[in-house]
Amino acid sequence: MNFAFILDPLAKLDAGHDSSVAIMEAAQQAGHQLWVTQVEQLSARDGQVWAQLQPVTVIPVTLGDGHWLAADPWYEVGTGGWQSLAAMDVVFMRKDPPVTINYIYATQLLDLLTPTKTLVINHPRSLQAANEKLYALNFPSVIPQTIVTQDKTTILEFVEAQGAAVLKPLDGKGGEGILFLEPGDRNLNSLLEISTHWGNEWVMVQQYLPAAKDGDKRIILLDGEPIGAVNRIPTGREFRGNMAVGGRVAAVPITDRDREICATVAPRLRADRLYFVGLDVIGGYLTEVNVTSPTGIREIDRLSQVSLGEQIVAWVAAKLKG
Ligand SMILES: Nc1ncnc2c1ncn2[C@@H]1O[C@H](COP(=O)(O)OP(=O)(O)O)[C@@H](O)[C@H]1O
Ligand SMILES: [Mg+2]
Repeated sequence: MNFAFILDPLAKLDAGHDSSVAIMEAAQQAGHQLWVTQVEQLSARDGQVWAQLQPVTVIPVTLGDGHWLAADPWYEVGTGGWQSLAAMDVVFMRKDPPVTINYIYATQLLDLLTPTKTLVINHPRSLQAANEKLYALNFPSVIPQTIVTQDKTTILEFVEAQGAAVLKPLDGKGGEGILFLEPGDRNLNSLLEISTHWGNEWVMVQQYLPAAKDGDKRIILLDGEPIGAVNRIPTGREFRGNMAVGGRVAAVPITDRDREICATVAPRLRADRLYFVGLDVIGGYLTEVNVTSPTGIREIDRLSQVSLGEQIVAWVAAKLKG
C-alpha cells in the first residue's frame, strides 16, 4: 500500500523521538511504500488534491544504552513529483502545531479526498474542529476545574478560589506559554494581560493538580483504545513535565482510572474519526487531547518493549481492507 506522510521537513525531525518516524519505519517494515510531502506542497486541481510526493526509505533506529540510535542521515529520498493524493491508501497528516490558518486550509484541501479510498489520519474536518486544549471540555466528568476566558477578573477570581492554577494558551504545545498562577504573585496581573494580549485572546485556566510533580502521563489511543503509556516527570527546577522542556520519561502502567477516562472519551473520538490521539492525564484527570501530531511512541516502545508503530500500521491495513 501507499503510505503518505505530511510532515515538517525530514531534516528537522528527530528519528529517535518523533512518532511520525516510528510509524514510517513500521510501515516500511510491513512492505508498504512511503511517500513524504509538506503542507506547502499541496495543491488542488480538477477538484482533486495533489501533492509533491517524494518516495522515501528509512533506516530503522537501533537500541543503544537507554536511547534510540539513528543513522545520520536516517532517510533516503528518491525523485518525486506531483501526484494526486487519491493514489495514496493512507495519508498521515502529522504537521506539528501551531494550528495556523495555513494548517486549516491544508485540512480543507485534504477534505477533498474520498474517505473510503484514502484514509486521512486524523480526519481533516476533526483536525479543524478539535483544538487540543478546548476538546477536553467535552468531557467535564474527567477534567479538573477549568475555565476558558479572555477576562482578567474572571481569571483572578478563579485563581483566588483554587489557590493555585495553570494557564494555557489555546495554541501551545510542548509546554509553550504554560504559566503557574497563584494569588500572591506580584506579576499576576501582568502575566494575565500578556497572555490574553490585554483581554483579546482566550486562555484556558485550570485548577493546579499537585500530582503533576509525579508526572504527566501520555496515553496513546488507537481508534479509542489505549495501546500504551509513558510518564513525563518534571525535573524539579521546572513545574512542566513536557519532554520538550526536559521532562524525564519513565514506564507507567495504564490504570483502571486511565481506562475509565479512555472509555469516556472513546465514543466521541470514534464519531469524530480521531483515530490516533494522545491523552494527557495528571493525577487521574484528563488535561489535554492531542490530535495533531501526538508524540510518545518511541519512548513507549523503548520502555515497554512494544512496537506501537506496528500496531498502528496493522490497524490501518485492516481498516483499508475492511
Ligand atoms: N492542571 C494542571 N496542574 C498542574 N500542572 C499542569 C496542569 N496542566 C498542565 N500542567 C503541566 O503543564 C504541562 C503542559 O500542559 P498541557 O496541558 O499538556 O499542554 P502542552 O503539552 O500542549 O503544552 C504538563 O506537562 C504539566 O506538567
Ligand atoms: Mg501536553
